[in-house]
Amino acid sequence: MRLKTEIEIDSMAVAGRSAAMTLKRLRESVVPGISTMDLEEIAREELHRHGARPALLGYHPRFSKVPYEFATCISVNDEVIHGQPSPKQILKDGDVVGLDLVADVDGWLADTAITVIVGKGSLKAQRLLSVTQEALRHGIAKAQVGAKMGDISSAVQRLVERNGFGVIRELSGHGVGCEVHEEGIDVPNYGFPGKGLTLLVGMTFCIEPMVTAGAPGIKHRPGDPWAVVTRDGSIGAHFEHTVAITEQGPRILTAI
Ligand code: MF3
Ligand code: CO
Ligand code: CO
Repeated sequence: MRLKTEIEIDSMAVAGRSAAMTLKRLRESVVPGISTMDLEEIAREELHRHGARPALLGYHPRFSKVPYEFATCISVNDEVIHGQPSPKQILKDGDVVGLDLVADVDGWLADTAITVIVGKGSLKAQRLLSVTQEALRHGIAKAQVGAKMGDISSAVQRLVERNGFGVIRELSGHGVGCEVHEEGIDVPNYGFPGKGLTLLVGMTFCIEPMVTAGAPGIKHRPGDPWAVVTRDGSIGAHFEHTVAITEQGPRILTAI
């Protein structure tokens, strides 16, 4: 794992701001009738406008046979993560839409995601989103020097389960900064306080709870090398920030 200096963390925060501004624009663009490919195009334009390169475009993760071909992952309803944008996927009222992207400014990367509802959505969907976002906040609060990774993981898990939902266990947050997925840091969304990696100044990683409204089981969609969907067809939610461990506490690098 590569610890980052304060200056490097500042550079990541520049990328993080571009990523956050792009998500904000996407959030405002989500209306009935728009396609997920339209959102992809807006993301590319907005990242460019903010001086950032889309780090996912052409990114070849270890877990895949082929590189990814888009700037965004857009995951609708039962898709939890890694949905690919498509001109054929037209959003409609009540859809639950995960928006995930990584910005690269001068080789410094920041990864962030939100989930939004088209229109008002069901009460259950609204609750799923607010619980997942709140879980992310609870996790971030534990990202303190000298704490353990399990403090973050268990805080996320507890908040989710206390609200009657379940975390997906097969997917975790990860180290980030010079690469999209950096070796050596794994951020599970479940665990025990006091267990796991000790958090050091200069660690930079994503915390990204993934939560489902039904049973928290996942599968790959047949014929799709990317999309991860819920087993029972229930909707999924995903919120993500890139965070740095600093002497002053957790620093969210993907806030506006
Ligand atoms: N942004 C995703 C994450 O949070 C990574 C997408 S990897 C890709 O980990 F291969 F789908 F592009
Ligand atoms: Co992401
Ligand atoms: Co991530």
